[in-house]
Amino acid sequence: MSDTLILAIESSCDETAAAVVKNGREVLSNIISSQIDIHTLYGGVVPEIASRKHIERINQVVRLALSRADVTLDDIDAIGVTYGPGLVGALLVGVAEAKAIAFAKNLPLIGVHHIEGHISANYIENKDLEPPFACLVVSGGHTHLVIVRDYGVYEIIGRTRDDAAGEAFDKVARAIGLGYPGGPKIDKVSRQGNAQAIAFPRAKVEGNEYDFSFSGLKSAVLNYLNGCAMKGIQVNQADVAASFQKAVTDVLVSHSMEAVERYHFTKFAIAGGVSANSALRGAMEEACAKRGVAFYRPSPILCTDNAAMIGAAAYYDYIRGYRSDYSLNAIPNLKLGER
Ligand code: KG4
Ligand code: ZN
Repeated sequence: MSDTLILAIESSCDETAAAVVKNGREVLSNIISSQIDIHTLYGGVVPEIASRKHIERINQVVRLALSRADVTLDDIDAIGVTYGPGLVGALLVGVAEAKAIAFAKNLPLIGVHHIEGHISANYIENKDLEPPFACLVVSGGHTHLVIVRDYGVYEIIGRTRDDAAGEAFDKVARAIGLGYPGGPKIDKVSRQGNAQAIAFPRAKVEGNEYDFSFSGLKSAVLNYLNGCAMKGIQVNQADVAASFQKAVTDVLVSHSMEAVERYHFTKFAIAGGVSANSALRGAMEEACAKRGVAFYRPSPILCTDNAAMIGAAAYYDYIRGYRSDYSLNAIPNLKLGER
């Protein structure tokens, strides 16, 4: 069978990204142009600025992805692109670019769900990983516990009722003065802190033992900070960060392992920006090892937004014959498993 090369494009939030992926698992190039420096000035992602920057950069990023892979558009078999969920204006830039290339070169077009991309990042470095497996997806916008029944076939068994895990990291980072982007900063400063210093709550959610809630934890951190301010107590930033991170990690690990035991999963993966978190990776690895469960996680660079993961997901759609047409549009609240 000849090789299949996918050119993938991702622009759902604040990274303009393009990649060339061979046979779904081999990354020939993975270009990520981050807008973090610009959005840092505003303390978070400004959607209008994100869209404008995507427009400025997308052509160069695609060109660079092709040249780094040492290929031209004539070598490409299909175009994969994130069409949701995400910021509508940001998504539109990638979708328009993908449609234009597909039309100009008469190539198949494949719309990819962003979260499906995150999950598929696990296929890239774990060549042996095949469905079925369970996956915890933790990003800035999502916290999902998912059963991956087959390629492209998902069942969500748990989700957050309020804030996503990444959102909680970002909000708490802002509250303790670390700024944006919060997750990586909390991860770093926590190494100097005592995770047992402050007893923050571990929320249990009524109705579904696999659902998550992080807004109570975020409020507990804010209350703690206000309490310290009122009493004139100096806050130890590293202790707050480490204690918060431990509370999030404990909940993510305990819910995941309850699901692993209940459903008898032998393979467990993590995905999404928060899965780059060193404490979460360590705790999950240990919990899986204790239960004899194979643990999979992408390298940190493939956990946060990138186009290689979109190329991996698009490949499995491509070989199953799934195609989008030129009516493909950005869908900001696209559900996992929905077409
Ligand atoms: O997957 P992602 O890049 O974008 C979305 O799809 O949302 O995830 C971004 C989220 C942000 O909330 C960011 O703070 C968080 O992932 N994040 C982390 C780490 N790196 C990124 N959270 C905790 N620890 C990290 N090392
Ligand atoms: Zn993402």
